[in-house]
Amino acid sequence: MHFLDRRVLLISGKGGVGRTTVTVALARAAARAGKRTLVCEIANPEGGPSAIGRLLGLDGVGPEPVAVGPRLDACHLWARTGHARFLQSVLPGKALVRAALRSRAVDKFLTAAPSFHEMGLFYHLLTLLRAERDGRRRHELIVLDMPATGHTLALTGLPEILLRLMPTGPIAAALREGQAVLNDPDQGAAWVVTLPEQLPVTEAIELLAGLSETEMPAGGVLLNRMPPDPFTPAERAALDGWIEGRQVFGEVAFRRIEAAAEARARLEDRVEVPVLTLPELGDEPVPGLVGALANYMAVDGGGR
Ligand SMILES: Nc1ncnc2c1ncn2[C@@H]1O[C@H](COP(=O)(O)OP(=O)(O)OP(=O)(O)O)[C@@H](O)[C@H]1O
Ligand SMILES: [Mg+2]
Repeated sequence: MHFLDRRVLLISGKGGVGRTTVTVALARAAARAGKRTLVCEIANPEGGPSAIGRLLGLDGVGPEPVAVGPRLDACHLWARTGHARFLQSVLPGKALVRAALRSRAVDKFLTAAPSFHEMGLFYHLLTLLRAERDGRRRHELIVLDMPATGHTLALTGLPEILLRLMPTGPIAAALREGQAVLNDPDQGAAWVVTLPEQLPVTEAIELLAGLSETEMPAGGVLLNRMPPDPFTPAERAALDGWIEGRQVFGEVAFRRIEAAAEARARLEDRVEVPVLTLPELGDEPVPGLVGALANYMAVDGGGR
């Protein structure tokens, strides 16, 4: 089983490390490998442009999946959609659902009560997982671009917290249904995207530690933007001695390669999950990353 053989991948990590780029590349790689794939992001509650939409050449994305390529659809997760669909599942009749959603009190509760934003996202995701078309699963794989670190843990830790508060009833049933997919290591995995630099590596180690306190299985780390190293170890050692104490053009780039290798070594040493390295590429990195990911797919078990 390779790392894309799951039903849901949550792509998390600190700001700016390339989560969105890697999410889109993973989804494209999976679609190209023959999987009916859905790529998602979490809707910005204030509106605003869609990050995955920009990379996919769409004006925006909505809560319903739209086709963006062969076997590839895109949509966003929106708490409101989740709330509406949940109410539809428990309240008889559309009029009542509409009335509930129009009620200021219900709206205030759903948007302000702790965890209810995440519950809406979670339920929307659940409906996407359930979706069928032509008598089979509409999407075999959902790749989700997670927002910042704290939100990732809020979403992955949500079922346990809420189940403690309300162990029975329709919300509990939905949470258990979602958990059965997300928290099954054969079906769900959270991947952490990071950069080969000291601080981002430390943050990735911390995020994995945070994840291990939730029931969400950790898939591994995607070490993005690894600078290419054109030197053999012998050349590197020779250059290293020669540069020492001299002012040499290119020293910064040379030292950066060295620092990246050290950061990777520390990461591999400190985490138990697989570390997949993705190269530093030019202005439009997605196609190159799709190629790099395809190489990992060929490795059996790459990513556990
Ligand atoms: N492997 C790569 N090689 C070169 N550039 C890359 C690579 N990965 C990402 N980038 C570039 O880094 C920038 C940030 O990427 P991206 O927007 O995917 O990060 P992000 O983690 O989603 O950021 P945010 O926290 O803002 O959501 C973009 O300009 C993107 O093109
Ligand atoms: Mg992003």
